Amino acid sequence: RPLDINIELPDEQSAQKLKIGIYFATWWALNVVFNIYNKKVLNAFPYPWLTSTLSLACGSLMMLVSWATRIADAPKTDLDFWKTLFPVALAHTIGHVAATVSMSKVAVSFTHIIKSGEPAFSVLVSRFFMGETFPLPVYLSLLPIIGGCALAAITELNFNITGFMGAMISNLAFVFRNIFSKKGMKGKSVSGMNYYACLSMMSLVILTPFAIAVEGPQMWAAGWQNAVSQVGPNFVWWVVAQSVFYHLYNQVSYMSLDQISPLTFSIGNTMKRISVIVASIIIFHTPIQPVNALGAAIAILGTFLYSQAKQ
Ligand code: 3PG
Repeated sequence: RPLDINIELPDEQSAQKLKIGIYFATWWALNVVFNIYNKKVLNAFPYPWLTSTLSLACGSLMMLVSWATRIADAPKTDLDFWKTLFPVALAHTIGHVAATVSMSKVAVSFTHIIKSGEPAFSVLVSRFFMGETFPLPVYLSLLPIIGGCALAAITELNFNITGFMGAMISNLAFVFRNIFSKKGMKGKSVSGMNYYACLSMMSLVILTPFAIAVEGPQMWAAGWQNAVSQVGPNFVWWVVAQSVFYHLYNQVSYMSLDQISPLTFSIGNTMKRISVIVASIIIFHTPIQPVNALGAAIAILGTFLYSQAKQ
């Protein structure tokens, strides 16, 4: 009887590396496009609660159609699955709406600089809520992350407290989302793609009543008319693009989370932010001062030191 040992041949290893490389490149590219269209939409139509809801609705619809037409196999789920998904969906909803509110108030680059501080939140949550302890270098790596974010925040030309707090809340919520989703995906037969599809649907159900309460159809109707008169009839395609790309980048990120450790995932996420920060500064001509850029660079360097220290 052959031994049940999983030995990866060099060819399989390079194929796996190539696959992860393709996932990462696709994830970052989709994310850059999402961020550009999301900001273009928010500039003309500043209703982040509705745009967040539309992103989730579009993703849910795309997946329902894929299941109905058998482009993708529908997952087999039970009540227990949906119960375990609830805290993940709640955290995903809060993190998503908070990030979108943030981007409606400040430059995309600023939101992502603050969001590059997510590892610091991860360590603090794991330490204080999960009782996990880390070696000293991990705690030390938080100093440049927190210091760099603080420097970038105080020197930000268009600082806005709601924009700042939105990005901070999003960091906290996503740390909980990542902890709960890795637990929820463990040992389950639902693939990363279908897991994210179910997550979108549940988040949509949670978010819709709040979006109506906070903004509501009257504001949306007036805002929509205004946006169409500013941008023209193409405005609707901007909204479609931000919604479709939101779903796609998240779907690919969950597909890669299936294949890699949370640590590799968080390194990939930080590198993604570098591409978003650079692309959005170029496209939106965001004014930045050297000391502001220095803060961002220190924070991102801190994230790399954190990943090294955690290894
Ligand atoms: C959102 O709207 O959910 C945020 O833009 C997501 O941010 P992230 O996926 O880059 O953390």
